[in-house]
Amino acid sequence: MARLVVNVDHVATIRQARGIDVPDPVLAAGLAELAGADGIICHLREDRRHINDRDLRLLRETVKTSLNMEMAAVDEMVKIAAAVKPEMVTLVPEKREELTTEGGLDVVARPDHYRRVVEQLHEAGIKVSFFIDPDPEQVKAAHGCRGDIIEIHTGHYSEARSEDEAKRRFGRVVLAAESAAALDLGISAGHGLNYINVKRFESLSLVEEYSIGHSIVAMAVLVGFERAVRRMIELVKTF
Ligand code: PXP
Repeated sequence: MARLVVNVDHVATIRQARGIDVPDPVLAAGLAELAGADGIICHLREDRRHINDRDLRLLRETVKTSLNMEMAAVDEMVKIAAAVKPEMVTLVPEKREELTTEGGLDVVARPDHYRRVVEQLHEAGIKVSFFIDPDPEQVKAAHGCRGDIIEIHTGHYSEARSEDEAKRRFGRVVLAAESAAALDLGISAGHGLNYINVKRFESLSLVEEYSIGHSIVAMAVLVGFERAVRRMIELVKTF
């Protein structure tokens, strides 16, 4: 049975749209756990555009399942992770101008750098996952850098415009998962997965964990909307 790790970044995105303190991603994480989520993940970006240092600190104090911190492989973040001690770190590429994480990490290009980062995180007792494109060469490189887990970037798959394209792109995900399994790496998948495109993964039991955020927040806004409006009507009607 695969695990679901809920990404709470976009609860913070809604908060940041107003620059106030609601909705709180820390409360959302608690609700996700009450609903049965196996873990919570958040991305502390260098520009703190959604999750901030306070969120990470409180998530560390309150998350009872498992906390996964997504971050760029840079000194500032390694220091923060070593102090906060999430159970796991997921290393991702980060560009300031991007809307969201756009591609997988190019581990092949900088193995020495990533090996050093993994070493520092392991010393702090933190497991390390590499967010990579579904490419067996990247899988090998992540293994060579002593990563514990790979998270297969499913963004390209989820953006497929036709059934044929989806099948082809899913085929790459399958190959990457098989290469990772052969190297005894843990296998996660995430980015762009929603209530429809995730169904194809039923056939891929090698994936142990799914990291999903945006589609859950989008669904929550819609399924909760009617109830929220009714509550406000009840209130206003008493005036
Ligand atoms: N995994 C990684 C490494 C990510 O960067 C993201 C987006 O923050 C996700 C999973 C979740 O993607 P989505 O919000 O599209 O579900």
